[in-house]
Amino acid sequence: MVPELASREHLRRIVPVVREALERAGLDFAGVAAIGATRGPGLIGSLLVGYTYGETLARALGKPFVPVNHLEGHVHAVFLEAQQRAAAGLPELPAACLIVSGGHTVLYAVEPAPGGADAPAAAAEFPAYRCLYSRIGATRDDAAGEAFDKVAKLLALGYPGGPVMDQLAPHGNAQSVHFTAPHTRGNPLDFSFSGIKTAVLRHIRAHPQLEPEIAERREALGRGLRCASELLPLCSAATLDLVASFQRAVVSDLVARTLAAAEQHSMRSVLVSGGVAANSELRATFERECRARALPVFFPSRALSTDNAAMIAAAAYPRLLAGQVAANGMDAQANLPLA
Ligand code: KG4
Ligand code: ZN
Repeated sequence: MVPELASREHLRRIVPVVREALERAGLDFAGVAAIGATRGPGLIGSLLVGYTYGETLARALGKPFVPVNHLEGHVHAVFLEAQQRAAAGLPELPAACLIVSGGHTVLYAVEPAPGGADAPAAAAEFPAYRCLYSRIGATRDDAAGEAFDKVAKLLALGYPGGPVMDQLAPHGNAQSVHFTAPHTRGNPLDFSFSGIKTAVLRHIRAHPQLEPEIAERREALGRGLRCASELLPLCSAATLDLVASFQRAVVSDLVARTLAAAEQHSMRSVLVSGGVAANSELRATFERECRARALPVFFPSRALSTDNAAMIAAAAYPRLLAGQVAANGMDAQANLPLA
């Protein structure tokens, strides 16, 4: 990603994107109660485009403007959809929330804000969870999605690597390559994925017979092949075993530390969000392990697991109700913490 190009693209697209979103929702600006926009964390150039546009639009329309933390958006993506599937019950707080994407791998304890309920009334039209967040674990090096992307690059499986590896993994044997579980001395709720990524690199170097197929796939990617179904015939059993074992190692570690956090902090539910939350094995493993512990687990749909604007609106709504609108001089912030 080239930051300068990304922010120029944001600038080019923001007006038509907002117009189209309103059209599809059958709304006009007059029918909007408030404007929410991401304040951070992220690339400052891109943040500034969305934030300044949102703030200016709110001022022009005389509507409240609600700055939102991107990570809080990922938490609220779970709440937003849980309401629509209320039959499964709404998530109760305190919850352990794993946000796992290409940029983040972080564990939050999510508690009700003073005066907020453990869970909003089930009859409410929209779940207005007002929360406090404390970071209880984070990656010390690569984010899990970044590890998927880097391993996919080593194996010439395209970018982003996660979705393709997710589809290739069931064709391999997850027990064939052994990866040592990462140690994170100090805080056992911290993550580390660079060791697993380096182990994959060492494995490839130790098995030079993998090189011709890697070269063949690189050439296929150059011709525009992208889907798992197109790449599968170009993968040997040894490659599929490596992909399955890598995914198993990452998934097992994410699930084990999240469940340890839930146990340690007596959480009443588990929330999993971010691009990697779309991973089939991650979902299945969380569902199996949480069922065994009678601990409810919630994910957004795959579409709302990755970055999106609906989750920013969902996080803005309880802040709007609580009167937490923008103060003067508040600006976008690349490293904005969630607290
Ligand atoms: O949340 P996201 O859309 O963007 C940010 O990084 O903020 O996450 C993108 C990341 C990429 O690293 C991608 O490889 C990973 O999520 N990802 C997956 C899957 N779908 C996306 N990783 C594993 N399995 C998937 N199905
Ligand atoms: Zn994100």
